[in-house]
Amino acid sequence: GMFQSESPAASVSAYLILNLFLLLFLPVDLSPEERSELEDIRRRKGALLQEIQRLRDELREAIIEVEGLETSTEGSKTLQKNRHVAMGRKKFNMDPKKGIVFLVENELLRHTQEDVAQFLYKGEGLNKTAIGDYLGEREDFNLKVLQAFVDLHEFTDLNLVQALRQFLWSFRLPGEAQKIDRMMEAFAQRYCHCNPGVFQSTDTCYVLSFAIIMLNTSLHNPNVRDKPGLDRFISMNRGINEGGDLPEDLLRNLYDSIKNEPFKIPEDDGNDLTHTFFNPDREGWLLKLGGRVKTWKRRWFILTDNCLYYFEYTTDKEPRGIIPLENLSIREVEDPRKPNCFELYIPNNRGQLIKACKTEADGRVVEGNHNVYRISAPTPEEKDEWIHHINSAVSVDPFYEMLAARKKRISLKKNEEQP
Ligand SMILES: *[C@@H]1O[C@H](CO)[C@@H](O)[C@H](O)[C@H]1NC(C)=O
Ligand SMILES: *[C@@H]1O[C@H](CO)[C@@H](O)[C@H](O)[C@H]1NC(C)=O
Ligand SMILES: *[C@@H]1O[C@H](CO)[C@@H](O)[C@H](O)[C@H]1NC(C)=O
Repeated sequence: GMFQSESPAASVSAYLILNLFLLLFLPVDLSPEERSELEDIRRRKGALLQEIQRLRDELREAIIEVEGLETSTEGSKTLQKNRHVAMGRKKFNMDPKKGIVFLVENELLRHTQEDVAQFLYKGEGLNKTAIGDYLGEREDFNLKVLQAFVDLHEFTDLNLVQALRQFLWSFRLPGEAQKIDRMMEAFAQRYCHCNPGVFQSTDTCYVLSFAIIMLNTSLHNPNVRDKPGLDRFISMNRGINEGGDLPEDLLRNLYDSIKNEPFKIPEDDGNDLTHTFFNPDREGWLLKLGGRVKTWKRRWFILTDNCLYYFEYTTDKEPRGIIPLENLSIREVEDPRKPNCFELYIPNNRGQLIKACKTEADGRVVEGNHNVYRISAPTPEEKDEWIHHINSAVSVDPFYEMLAARKKRISLKKNEEQP
């Protein structure tokens, strides 16, 4: 009906008929030129036939769509429902909680931990960062969903690396230590439930999981120069099985698996877990305001081991100064003379000097003479980067605390057993 008269297919057909007509009335004895023209016409005919088929397919799809629209106005709710589900997914990706509320209100999802967990586990059309955010929430219901979500994973007969691969691919771990702690605890429990007898306790599984994630980074992150061998991995994990050692075979398998193939995580933006928890070293030129003599000196700064080292030249072996970052805070400041400034200071300072040291021109090492360290970065971006990195260096590292707590628990249990 309505499509045929306007369809390009109609004009294409007319052209084709014209060509066929020419073909029929061609003389039988053909000159080479005519022959090649005939070839050409045949080729074009083939192309036209294909084009017609494509247009037919398009037409059929359009008709199906139109019919779908008609039946929906006739009362079928399917299309509307699909549209709502798509909208719910979109909302979820922007704000997970609102997305779930929307789906529940439109009766597309039941508000039970099992149903929501299933929805997230299937993950169709869902952003894995959003899934991680939802699962990481501390609220009662979210905690139950997390549990149900982890329970949907089947880890039976998988080694720990295989299980971690599956788990870490199903959502993107959020950056906060407490959230990761809950998620990894749930993971360890599930793994031990699916594989009884592999580890003495959930804590062992938990600690080893982190050792593996760290191993992944050490082996595959190009910024980490020091690549641990199997021996080191084995010795790092001594005593974590309730005081006993894990079988070397098991550790070797896990090591080889990671060595052969790094973990993949969704939306990998280079911010792997290492970035979240370990303060990546940073270095660059900055201007430092003198403590006694208020002049700006250009220095090469290196942030590492929770200390800020500064050098006169990038090639210097010995730093001119060392500023331990323990107990210090950092803030942005405006300076009338230099742009992009920040300052290291002691919170609630009552006139103390910051504990630091520097080397005088004559080689003597003396205590620093700074109430604050004022520093100017070359660009606003670099200022932000330095503040960010120093901030994560000065804050108590929640990751170390988490792991330390587990290891302590393991050793305490061990001691209880040996009266
Ligand atoms: C998922 O969400 C995050 C954070 O909102 C965003 O950075 C990322 O690009 C999104 N991913 C996709 C595939 O849309
Ligand atoms: C494992 O290492 C690779 C390479 O550095 C990195 O892309 C990935 O995010 C890491 N995985 C985890 C879970 O840290
Ligand atoms: C940091 O503060 C703690 C507690 O006040 C103190 O014991 C420690 O010596 C301080 N460290 C430095 C380097 O000032």
